[in-house]
Amino acid sequence: MMNRFKGKEIQALLTKEQIEKRVKELGAEITHAYRDIKDPLILVGVLKGSVLFMADLCRAIDMPIELEFMGVSSYGEATKSSGAVQITLDLTRPIENRHVLFVEDIVDTGLTAKYLYGNMRTREPASLRLCSLLEKPSKSKGEVKVDFLGFTIPDEFVIGYGLDLAGVYRNLPYVGVLGSDV
Ligand code: IMP
Repeated sequence: MMNRFKGKEIQALLTKEQIEKRVKELGAEITHAYRDIKDPLILVGVLKGSVLFMADLCRAIDMPIELEFMGVSSYGEATKSSGAVQITLDLTRPIENRHVLFVEDIVDTGLTAKYLYGNMRTREPASLRLCSLLEKPSKSKGEVKVDFLGFTIPDEFVIGYGLDLAGVYRNLPYVGVLGSDV
C-alpha cells in the first residue's frame, strides 16, 4: 500500500491496525509472564524511538507498572548503527531487586541492547528482559535475545511509529519504507 506523508511517498510495511493488534497481544503476553511478581514491573523505554510503542504497550499491560526512560545516542551514519553507545539520560531510581523490561523500537545489530544489558546488570535487577516492536533477522545478534517481539521485518530502513530518519517521520502512525522519489 502506498501512502503520502508530508508530500513523500511511503510504502506501508505494517499498518496501524496490524500494529494495534500485535501490541495488544504483546501486552497480554507480558501480563501473563509477570503475573507472580510482587512489586510493579519497571518498563524502561529507550528514547526516542520507543516512545509511541511504549505509550500503547503500557496501556495493554494489565498490572501495576512504573515507567522509566533511558536516553542513548549511537554514533555513526544516519542509517547505520556503529555500536558505540552513549547514555544521554539515565534512570531516575535504583532498580536493584526489581523486575525490569526494556522496551525498544527495533533491534537491528543488537549492539544498543547489548550495551544496555551490560550497563543494567551491574545494578542487580531481579530480572532483565527485552521487548522490541521490530527485529531485523539478517544480522547476528550475539547474545541478545528479544523476549517479547512484535514483528520480524526485512533488512530495510524503516520509518514511522517512533522510528526516524534523521529525526523526522516519528509521528507517522504506521511503519513504512520511503519511496524512491526521495
Ligand atoms: P542496533 O544497535 O543496531 O540494534 O540499532 C538500534 C537502533 O538503531 C534503534 O533503536 C534505532 O534507533 C536505530 N535503527 C536501526 N534500524 C533502524 C531503521 O530501520 N529505522 C530507524 N531506526 C533504526
